[in-house]
Amino acid sequence: MSTLDTLLNRNSHPRLTEPGPDADQLQMILRAALRAPDHGRLRPWRFVVIGGDRRAVLGECFQHSLKLKGVTDDAQLKKALNAPLRAPLVLAGLLRAVDHEKISRDEQGHAVAAALHAAQLAADALGFGCVWRTGGYATDPHVVEALGGDPGDQIIGFLYMGTRDGPSKLLSEEPLESLVSYF
Ligand SMILES: Cc1cc2nc3c(=O)[nH]c(=O)nc-3n(C[C@H](O)[C@H](O)[C@H](O)COP(=O)(O)O)c2cc1C
Repeated sequence: MSTLDTLLNRNSHPRLTEPGPDADQLQMILRAALRAPDHGRLRPWRFVVIGGDRRAVLGECFQHSLKLKGVTDDAQLKKALNAPLRAPLVLAGLLRAVDHEKISRDEQGHAVAAALHAAQLAADALGFGCVWRTGGYATDPHVVEALGGDPGDQIIGFLYMGTRDGPSKLLSEEPLESLVSYF
């Protein structure tokens, strides 16, 4: 697939199954992430790969996060526990902002988002489905800590990756006119 095909046709795919990317494919996905634009080359990102049995541990962490917020509803707690099992591989992208007089934390967060998008496109180009998720867990410092993050780190996204289970949804056609103006 050409670069433009990938860019123009990427589609999130929430229903994912085995297999996920193998070690070589994952390397490629991570290398694509590291090519994202990064003002000042601050490398404000950290990536955490969660696969195999570790997904269940992440699920426990998500569930614990809900309990700490006072959630007692069984269905919600079970959903949190099983959330990471929805894909063979989960890639968390964290912002670890660097103090910089000109390059703001926000700007560094944008770099992490660009890196995650690059990873998503690479996964797509390798034939995998992918979906970017956040949810309440992403803003919970306990989850950041469990992932090995430092205090102050922020989860920008979890990329769920795997083999597409079922057909992809149709691409939406958007009229450019309502979203683009020419100055
Ligand atoms: C920062 C960010 C956070 C997101 N969080 C979630 C989420 O928690 N749950 C979800 O279902 N989709 C979430 N999405 C949206 C999906 O990843 C996806 O983009 C959306 O379903 C539209 O599908 P498309 O990518 O095929 O256009 C998020 C997207 C972004 C950019």
